Amino acid sequence: MIKIISLVGARPQFVKMATINRQLEDYKNIKHVIVHTGQHYDNKMSAVFFNEMQIPEPAYNLDINNLSHGSMTGRMIEKIEKVLLSEKPSVLILYGDTNSTLAGSLAAKKLHIDIAHVEAGLRSFNMDMPEEINRIITDRISDFLYCPSKSAYDNLIIEGFDNFPCKKIISGDVMYDAAIFYSKLSNKKADVSKVVNQKEEFILCTIHREENIDIPQKLTSLIEAINEISKEKRVILPLHPRSFKMISKLNLKIKAVVTPPLSYFTMIELLKRCSLVMTDSGGLQKEAYFFNKHCITLREETEWTELVDLNVNMLVGSDKNRILETYYNVLKKNKFSSKKIYGDGNAAKLICDHLISNLI
Ligand code: UD1
Repeated sequence: MIKIISLVGARPQFVKMATINRQLEDYKNIKHVIVHTGQHYDNKMSAVFFNEMQIPEPAYNLDINNLSHGSMTGRMIEKIEKVLLSEKPSVLILYGDTNSTLAGSLAAKKLHIDIAHVEAGLRSFNMDMPEEINRIITDRISDFLYCPSKSAYDNLIIEGFDNFPCKKIISGDVMYDAAIFYSKLSNKKADVSKVVNQKEEFILCTIHREENIDIPQKLTSLIEAINEISKEKRVILPLHPRSFKMISKLNLKIKAVVTPPLSYFTMIELLKRCSLVMTDSGGLQKEAYFFNKHCITLREETEWTELVDLNVNMLVGSDKNRILETYYNVLKKNKFSSKKIYGDGNAAKLICDHLISNLI
């Protein structure tokens, strides 16, 4: 029996892990143990994802949240180490770039437990982002690196990973797997009528990045741009708790349709129907692409550079005038370029086959 632990803590990681979990159920003699750090803990940020995608209850919930980066990461390392010592897995699977990912990588590596990193090789080249630090360190100490795209793989080559004792492949993107699989279920299970009516045109917008939300001038400029656009078209703005707290603190008035955080299935249905996406999220940029929607990215850089090259993703940062100018330009676009850059929707299978063949 091979024991594999998946460590998750934040919203997008539940989606990525769901694809791996489904895949692992097909193998004999594999025990998959799910550990939740508790980084995202609200029902709307966590439980709803497990319910919709029918992910089994985590075997452990470490209940670590609402702390500074250092305290959060430190406490996670301590508790993850205890779990790893008692479970003794063959490998720890980590997803993406959150503080939970970083804590898992440090805890496992020091115990000489192999690490598999799903979503390896991504780089924004902005070292002020906590996510960039988390992914660089995790990649460097991982034993198995699963790159969602060729450009992610190329980043590892440029950084000299050919000289390190690790195995790396271009697996494709598990979020593409998830979008294909769950979009067949979401139309039956998600009711978006409370958010939008059938015929209405709308823009789907999210903001939550620390570098946008925690700087009042940037957040104010973003909200002003969103308000301006809302005069012309309905903007649906599901608000992350971090954003909600800061907007309330600064007493900013919003003209968009504000909703609480929405479930994955609801987001898929909104992605299918929206006319445009505006976001600072990493995952949503790609999901816009999966559903053939242009994306205005409210950041100065992106890890998903191939989308910018395809001219379907426009990087605009947080400056109000730049956002508005790009918005009016995007309205004139009618062509959407699509290429198979994130695999064939079988990334989870490629990852699990590769990983398990290396463990037996
Ligand atoms: C984290 C990840 C980011 C990822 C994002 C997905 C890091 C450094 N960042 O950012 O890479 O894109 O998740 O959403 O790990 N909060 C709640 N309820 C919750 C969860 C969070 O109120 O269920 C609050 C926290 O108390 C905190 C704020 O939201 O005040 C930020 O949460 P945190 O988990 O630190 O980072 P995210 O912004 O979610």
